[in-house]
Amino acid sequence: MRKRLVVFALLIVIVTAPLTLAQKVQLAVDVSRPGPKIDRNIFGQFAEHLGKGVYEGIWVGPDSKIPNTRGMRNDVIAALKSLKVPNIRWPGGCFADEYHWRKGIGPKRAETLNPNWGGVIEPNTFGTHEFMDFLDQIGAEAYLSINVGSGTPQEAAEWLEYLTASQPTTLAKERAANGHPAPYKIAYLGVGNESWDCGGNMTVDYYLDQLKIYNRFVRNFNPAQSGNQQMLKIAVGPGGDEPRFIEWTEAVMKAWQDRKWSWDMQGLSLHNYTVVHWDDKFASVGFGETEYAQFLKSTLEMDALINKHSAIMDRYDPQKKIALVVDEWGSWYKPLPGTNAGFLVQQNSLRDAVLAALNINIFIRHAERVRMANIAQMINVLQAMIMTDKEKMVLTPTYYIYKMYVPFQDATFVPVTLNAGSYTHGDVSLPRVDAVGARDASGKLWLAITNIDPNQSVEIETTLTGSTGKWAVGETLTAPKVDSVNTFDAPNTVVPRRVSTSIQAGRLTLKLEPKSVTVVSVEQ
Ligand code: AHR
Repeated sequence: MRKRLVVFALLIVIVTAPLTLAQKVQLAVDVSRPGPKIDRNIFGQFAEHLGKGVYEGIWVGPDSKIPNTRGMRNDVIAALKSLKVPNIRWPGGCFADEYHWRKGIGPKRAETLNPNWGGVIEPNTFGTHEFMDFLDQIGAEAYLSINVGSGTPQEAAEWLEYLTASQPTTLAKERAANGHPAPYKIAYLGVGNESWDCGGNMTVDYYLDQLKIYNRFVRNFNPAQSGNQQMLKIAVGPGGDEPRFIEWTEAVMKAWQDRKWSWDMQGLSLHNYTVVHWDDKFASVGFGETEYAQFLKSTLEMDALINKHSAIMDRYDPQKKIALVVDEWGSWYKPLPGTNAGFLVQQNSLRDAVLAALNINIFIRHAERVRMANIAQMINVLQAMIMTDKEKMVLTPTYYIYKMYVPFQDATFVPVTLNAGSYTHGDVSLPRVDAVGARDASGKLWLAITNIDPNQSVEIETTLTGSTGKWAVGETLTAPKVDSVNTFDAPNTVVPRRVSTSIQAGRLTLKLEPKSVTVVSVEQ
């Protein structure tokens, strides 16, 4: 036995010093049984006019000393480009239902208020053209959230005409005068936001009436967006599993099933934050194993929630034409002391990295129905990828998870089976290991494996059927503590490290450190 352990240790290049003997987990991957496509849009982002999410996070203005391109900070653009962000939802959130697009175009911008988020002045200097330029700079698609709460169908219809008309209408000419003669592409349109709450406290019947009107009249005129390039419309969906949300999904899906030729939708939104207690939220830093375990238990409830709403959708839409779009998700903690509570500023720790991986894995396993998701939010707000402080920028542990998962974008899901074991702390018991597999366009196999257990390393023995790899190489992300964070002064506490291991007789053996996420590819 002792001799075998020594052999294993030699095979493994991930060198760690586990305090206790590694737990063994068997994982089987059958590459010959590929599943559905993992839509790259599940790696979407969300940028709301909230705190420093847009102003300072993206926009510093062309006259800023912070290096920028047409007002957009270069450090943030470069960081986001590496993530291959597929789409960005904008301008909200709750903000969207009070946003009037005309205030954000042209040389003179109106100064308005942002009553949802700290009551601060909204300068409107980041508006339609700046958003589209920002998308262009990072190579992402637009997911526009239109104002259903306090706007009108005419206002939204004119916004879309302004953006997309190719003929010389007055609005198209105004767009050209403002610097963009060619029509813009708007790939996704959100028809309202949380209309059951901050979006207008609507009943589902009232919302459905609005949905049909907005769907009919808010048109995309871009000639390049016909056929399979058509703009996809996403209706407001549920925000949890309470009876009112079950009824909401049921009613919207039934309305869709009974639809007439004059309206349609392609997506139903789902919002679900990991919070534990809304009234007394967890801290984002300075916590221990108990809060780690409880928070991850709560995040894993995403799976049951998706199952619940998918089951309803399946009854009305067995062909899965309508995507479930999880366009707000992520951790929501207490605001950091000393910050404006309306700015939703929190730290981002190793726990958030593990949480991100677990949720992405859930979306991947639901790839047939979940075809888009947007983590909240991209910069400086809630579970951010990036944090800034004036000219300084730091990449969070969550950022690195998104980077490690890039190869899963548009890859084919490969199911894995494993005896995950369990990790128990107090009254919380979780699967010790979670894993997903995928094959990219070149046929390469990728595995993403999370060891939730913060105390024990895990030895994964993977049997590969239908794959003839010789090596596995990739990266692992872990840190000294469950609440380790990257700061402006110490930005490299939670960063990925390279790992590699040989494959012998179709078996890939990897040692995963406690509380870690590892992504490897199988190489010939
Ligand atoms: O992401 C913050 C807020 O959370 C959004 O504005 C809203 O849609 C949700 O309640």
